[in-house]
Amino acid sequence: MSADSYGNDYDLDKLIEKAKVARRLAYAPYSDFKVGASLLTGDGRIFTGCNIENTSYPLSICAERVAISKAVSEGYRDFLVLVVFGDTSQPTSPCGACRQFLIEFGPKTNVVMVGKEKKIEMSAADLLPNNFMRRE
Ligand code: THU
Repeated sequence: MSADSYGNDYDLDKLIEKAKVARRLAYAPYSDFKVGASLLTGDGRIFTGCNIENTSYPLSICAERVAISKAVSEGYRDFLVLVVFGDTSQPTSPCGACRQFLIEFGPKTNVVMVGKEKKIEMSAADLLPNNFMRRE
């Protein structure tokens, strides 16, 4: 068990396992770099995602944004934890676009970047300091 930024306990091993399973479905023929993500919502739902590349390279989408988009499109916007797994020795960390996409839904989501040798945990806000938010 681990604790999220709100102090709630959650099953990190289960989230990592879900990200690993999601990674197997990655479509990454151009980079050959497969990534899986899992996203825990406030009411305990888990959404997963994998990266999906395209022959028109910029159209490719990261695993994190797939998971977030699946959740939002199902009516979930309260995110406690986002796990990212790239099957590398060092943790895979979200790109700038994914950081901006995630922080839209709150600064406190705990991001767990999982490598085979170590894990890094940071809040969405710490991953994107001085982030852009439209404020009136
Ligand atoms: N990628 C992700 O899906 N998530 C990350 O956190 C880093 C990068 C993808 C994008 C692209 O399909 C491939 O990994 C190589 O950059």
